[in-house]
Amino acid sequence: MSDHLERTFVALKPDAVKRGIVGDVITRLERSGMRLAATRMLRADDEILEQHYSEHVDKDFYEGLRDFMKEGPVIAMVWEGVNAVANVRKLVGDTAPREADPGTIRGDFAHVSFEHADSEGKAVKNLIHASGNKEEAEKEVSIWFDDAEIHEYDRADEEHVQ
Ligand code: PPS
Repeated sequence: MSDHLERTFVALKPDAVKRGIVGDVITRLERSGMRLAATRMLRADDEILEQHYSEHVDKDFYEGLRDFMKEGPVIAMVWEGVNAVANVRKLVGDTAPREADPGTIRGDFAHVSFEHADSEGKAVKNLIHASGNKEEAEKEVSIWFDDAEIHEYDRADEEHVQ
Protein backbone atom coordinates (compact mmCIF):
# COMPACT_ATOMS: atom_id res chain seq x y z
CA MET A 1 0.00 0.00 0.00
CA SER A 2 1.46 3.38 -0.98
CA ASP A 3 2.23 5.81 1.85
CA HIS A 4 -0.47 8.06 0.49
CA LEU A 5 -3.17 5.42 0.46
CA GLU A 6 -5.03 5.79 3.75
CA ARG A 7 -8.10 4.53 5.56
CA THR A 8 -10.31 6.88 7.49
CA PHE A 9 -13.29 6.41 9.76
CA VAL A 10 -16.59 8.15 9.04
CA ALA A 11 -19.86 8.02 10.98
CA LEU A 12 -23.15 9.40 9.74
CA LYS A 13 -24.74 10.68 12.93
CA PRO A 14 -28.40 10.12 13.91
CA ASP A 15 -29.46 13.51 12.47
CA ALA A 16 -28.22 12.51 9.01
CA VAL A 17 -30.04 9.17 9.20
CA LYS A 18 -33.29 10.69 10.50
CA ARG A 19 -33.22 13.45 7.88
CA GLY A 20 -32.94 10.92 5.09
CA ILE A 21 -29.77 12.39 3.60
CA VAL A 22 -27.61 9.29 3.94
CA GLY A 23 -27.59 8.78 0.17
CA ASP A 24 -26.68 12.40 -0.55
CA VAL A 25 -23.77 12.29 1.88
CA ILE A 26 -22.43 8.94 0.71
CA THR A 27 -22.70 10.08 -2.92
CA ARG A 28 -20.37 12.98 -2.18
CA LEU A 29 -17.72 10.66 -0.77
CA GLU A 30 -18.22 8.05 -3.46
CA ARG A 31 -17.98 10.41 -6.41
CA SER A 32 -14.58 11.66 -5.26
CA GLY A 33 -13.21 8.27 -6.28
CA MET A 34 -12.51 7.06 -2.75
CA ARG A 35 -13.51 3.49 -1.96
CA LEU A 36 -16.07 2.42 0.65
CA ALA A 37 -14.23 -0.35 2.47
CA ALA A 38 -16.63 -1.12 5.34
CA THR A 39 -20.04 -0.11 6.61
CA ARG A 40 -22.44 -1.03 9.39
CA MET A 41 -25.61 0.53 10.85
CA LEU A 42 -25.82 0.34 14.60
CA ARG A 43 -26.99 2.05 17.75
CA ALA A 44 -23.91 3.39 19.49
CA ASP A 45 -23.79 2.57 23.20
CA ASP A 46 -22.00 4.33 26.07
CA GLU A 47 -19.01 2.02 25.84
CA ILE A 48 -18.21 2.56 22.16
CA LEU A 49 -18.82 6.31 22.47
CA GLU A 50 -16.47 6.57 25.43
CA GLN A 51 -13.77 4.84 23.41
CA HIS A 52 -14.45 6.89 20.32
CA TYR A 53 -14.60 10.24 22.13
CA SER A 54 -12.01 9.30 24.79
CA GLU A 55 -10.37 12.74 24.53
CA HIS A 56 -13.68 14.49 25.21
CA VAL A 57 -15.34 12.41 27.94
CA ASP A 58 -14.40 14.90 30.66
CA LYS A 59 -15.54 17.97 28.73
CA ASP A 60 -18.71 19.91 29.56
CA PHE A 61 -20.27 19.13 26.19
CA TYR A 62 -19.67 15.36 26.38
CA GLU A 63 -22.99 14.38 27.94
CA GLY A 64 -24.95 16.28 25.27
CA LEU A 65 -22.77 14.83 22.51
CA ARG A 66 -23.23 11.28 23.87
CA ASP A 67 -27.01 11.66 24.15
CA PHE A 68 -27.20 13.09 20.62
CA MET A 69 -25.18 10.17 19.24
CA LYS A 70 -27.69 7.80 20.90
CA GLU A 71 -30.81 9.49 19.49
CA GLY A 72 -30.97 6.94 16.68
CA PRO A 73 -28.81 4.61 14.63
CA VAL A 74 -25.52 5.72 13.15
CA ILE A 75 -23.86 4.46 9.98
CA ALA A 76 -20.24 3.64 10.57
CA MET A 77 -17.94 3.45 7.56
CA VAL A 78 -14.35 3.08 6.50
CA TRP A 79 -13.26 5.00 3.41
CA GLU A 80 -10.01 4.35 1.61
CA GLY A 81 -8.12 6.51 -0.85
CA VAL A 82 -5.14 8.73 -1.49
CA ASN A 83 -4.77 11.04 1.52
CA ALA A 84 -8.24 9.88 2.53
CA VAL A 85 -8.09 11.40 6.03
CA ALA A 86 -7.55 14.98 4.85
CA ASN A 87 -9.68 14.55 1.73
CA VAL A 88 -12.71 13.36 3.67
CA ARG A 89 -12.31 16.19 6.21
CA LYS A 90 -12.23 18.65 3.30
CA LEU A 91 -15.50 17.27 1.92
CA VAL A 92 -17.06 17.27 5.41
CA GLY A 93 -16.18 20.90 6.24
CA ASP A 94 -15.64 22.74 9.49
CA THR A 95 -16.84 21.05 12.71
CA ALA A 96 -19.23 23.94 13.36
CA PRO A 97 -21.81 24.02 10.55
CA ARG A 98 -21.97 27.82 10.80
CA GLU A 99 -18.30 27.99 9.78
CA ALA A 100 -18.44 25.24 7.17
CA ASP A 101 -17.96 26.43 3.60
CA PRO A 102 -20.70 26.06 0.99
CA GLY A 103 -20.05 22.93 -1.03
CA THR A 104 -19.06 20.93 2.02
CA ILE A 105 -21.40 18.39 3.60
CA ARG A 106 -21.89 20.41 6.79
CA GLY A 107 -21.99 23.72 4.91
CA ASP A 108 -24.70 22.52 2.53
CA PHE A 109 -26.87 20.47 4.88
CA ALA A 110 -26.57 22.32 8.20
CA HIS A 111 -25.99 25.85 9.48
CA VAL A 112 -26.03 26.18 13.28
CA SER A 113 -23.23 27.43 15.54
CA PHE A 114 -21.80 25.93 18.73
CA GLU A 115 -22.83 29.15 20.52
CA HIS A 116 -26.45 28.62 19.54
CA ALA A 117 -26.43 24.93 20.48
CA ASP A 118 -24.77 25.70 23.84
CA SER A 119 -27.30 28.45 24.59
CA GLU A 120 -30.11 25.97 23.96
CA GLY A 121 -28.35 23.24 25.93
CA LYS A 122 -28.23 21.03 22.83
CA ALA A 123 -25.44 19.26 21.01
CA VAL A 124 -24.49 20.65 17.63
CA LYS A 125 -26.13 18.46 15.03
CA ASN A 126 -23.34 18.37 12.52
CA LEU A 127 -24.37 15.23 10.63
CA ILE A 128 -21.09 13.43 10.27
CA HIS A 129 -17.88 12.54 12.02
CA ALA A 130 -14.60 12.05 10.19
CA SER A 131 -11.23 11.18 11.71
CA GLY A 132 -8.99 14.20 12.28
CA ASN A 133 -5.61 12.62 11.48
CA LYS A 134 -3.99 9.29 10.61
CA GLU A 135 -3.46 8.18 14.21
CA GLU A 136 -7.07 8.98 15.10
CA ALA A 137 -8.22 7.14 11.97
CA GLU A 138 -6.34 3.96 12.89
CA LYS A 139 -7.72 4.06 16.42
CA GLU A 140 -11.30 4.75 15.32
CA VAL A 141 -11.32 2.11 12.56
CA SER A 142 -10.22 -0.49 15.11
CA ILE A 143 -12.88 0.61 17.63
CA TRP A 144 -15.76 0.28 15.18
CA PHE A 145 -14.66 -2.58 12.90
CA ASP A 146 -12.95 -5.95 13.00
CA ASP A 147 -10.34 -6.56 10.29
CA ALA A 148 -12.62 -9.15 8.65
CA GLU A 149 -15.28 -6.48 8.06
CA ILE A 150 -12.95 -4.31 5.98
CA HIS A 151 -13.06 -5.21 2.32
CA GLU A 152 -10.52 -4.92 -0.45
CA TYR A 153 -11.69 -4.61 -4.03
CA ASP A 154 -11.07 -2.47 -7.09
CA ARG A 155 -13.54 0.13 -8.24
CA ALA A 156 -14.33 -0.12 -11.94
CA ASP A 157 -13.00 3.43 -12.41
CA GLU A 158 -9.80 2.82 -10.40
CA GLU A 159 -7.46 3.56 -13.33
CA HIS A 160 -9.11 6.94 -13.85
CA VAL A 161 -9.27 8.12 -10.24
CA GLN A 162 -5.86 7.05 -8.91
S1 PPS B 1 -12.87 17.87 15.59
O1 PPS B 1 -13.67 18.00 14.37
O2 PPS B 1 -12.88 16.47 16.10
O3 PPS B 1 -11.52 18.39 15.40
O4 PPS B 1 -13.59 18.81 16.58
P1 PPS B 1 -13.32 19.15 18.11
O5 PPS B 1 -13.43 20.60 18.23
O6 PPS B 1 -12.09 18.48 18.60
O7 PPS B 1 -14.61 18.51 18.75
C1 PPS B 1 -14.66 17.17 19.10
C2 PPS B 1 -16.05 16.60 18.96
O8 PPS B 1 -16.92 17.17 19.92
C3 PPS B 1 -18.00 17.79 19.29
N1 PPS B 1 -18.17 19.07 19.99
C4 PPS B 1 -19.29 19.43 20.57
N2 PPS B 1 -20.45 18.80 20.66
C5 PPS B 1 -21.42 19.45 21.32
N3 PPS B 1 -21.30 20.69 21.86
C6 PPS B 1 -20.13 21.35 21.79
N4 PPS B 1 -20.01 22.55 22.34
C7 PPS B 1 -19.08 20.70 21.11
N5 PPS B 1 -17.82 21.04 20.85
C8 PPS B 1 -17.29 20.00 20.17
C9 PPS B 1 -17.65 18.00 17.85
O9 PPS B 1 -18.80 17.92 17.03
C10 PPS B 1 -16.68 16.88 17.61
O10 PPS B 1 -17.36 15.70 17.28
P2 PPS B 1 -17.20 15.06 15.84
O11 PPS B 1 -17.93 13.76 15.95
O12 PPS B 1 -15.74 14.91 15.57
O13 PPS B 1 -17.90 16.04 14.93
